[in-house]
Amino acid sequence: MTTTISVPGKLILMGEHAVVYGRPCLVTAVNPRMIVKAEILNESVFKLEAPDVNISQYQKSITDIGSGEIPKEAKFAEIALYNFSQKYKIEKGINIITQSDFSSNSGFGSSAATVVGVMKAVAESLSVKLTEKELFDLSYKTVVDVQGIGSGFDIAAAVYGGTIYFKNTGEVTESLTADGMNLVVGYSGIKADTVEMVKLVSVKKKNYSSGIEKIFDNISGLVDEAKRAISEKDWVRLGTLMNYNQNYLEDLGVSTDKLNLMIEAAQKTGAYGAKLSGAGGGDCMIALVAPKNRENVSQAIKRAGGEIIEVSVNAEGVKAENI
Ligand code: PMV
Repeated sequence: MTTTISVPGKLILMGEHAVVYGRPCLVTAVNPRMIVKAEILNESVFKLEAPDVNISQYQKSITDIGSGEIPKEAKFAEIALYNFSQKYKIEKGINIITQSDFSSNSGFGSSAATVVGVMKAVAESLSVKLTEKELFDLSYKTVVDVQGIGSGFDIAAAVYGGTIYFKNTGEVTESLTADGMNLVVGYSGIKADTVEMVKLVSVKKKNYSSGIEKIFDNISGLVDEAKRAISEKDWVRLGTLMNYNQNYLEDLGVSTDKLNLMIEAAQKTGAYGAKLSGAGGGDCMIALVAPKNRENVSQAIKRAGGEIIEVSVNAEGVKAENI
């Protein structure tokens, strides 16, 4: 019996970096999704296939998971299984296959989606009922175990789906109604290193503490206003707030020339607002648009060297698929 789980990707709308320091952010779950398949085996081994990250025929004894050499690309899946096994006994073996429709290179949250998908797929195959909160907590622990840092906003998007106001490693996760929100997503062609970018900001914060804290506070204010703008479907206002947020991200030094070009191109061709999305240093920018402007803005982003990635926002959270 194979259990099939699908998990959405994510895009952060506002509040990146500041959210690492207790401020709020806004995140939306997106399709395309990641598919995770799990199958219980009679022999006591963990097998993993993850073609997106070039892992094939990886296997080790269930009793050894979480220890010894773990290839970088297998870490999120293996540590997810390990953390699950610390809470719920795994007496048999398990075969896991992960595959996403989104490129693992573009900042759509493939690590978070892998962790949530593996955790959920293993739980379902062993008939363990995890509450959403338990799934969030075990998954967040896994991300912190593997990469040392992370606010958990991407885990929240994967678990709960929709558009979320998120704060304090999940103490606040408020679902917002954001239908009618239209985004154009442009990929800069450069893979961002989230951990490096978070470190860069942490060094700045150490050296220029009061200035950087002020930037975080200002971003926090923008996020709170943006939450209201979303509930009022005031896209003009939301776009302006996104532009302001981008200015602060530039102040933090996480935007790039290429992202700036793509963002300006969108702003000049009628987007309500545009900004980078995620850690910066590469990955994607997003532009909030009226449907009638989508084509114009997309063409302008392409002329600035970006690749348009089609997404649908407000996607459903992790779920079992009947395939
Ligand atoms: O690079 P992404 O898309 O995973 O976004 C990172 C967002 C940060 O706020 C910089 C880090 C975090 O964990 O919140």
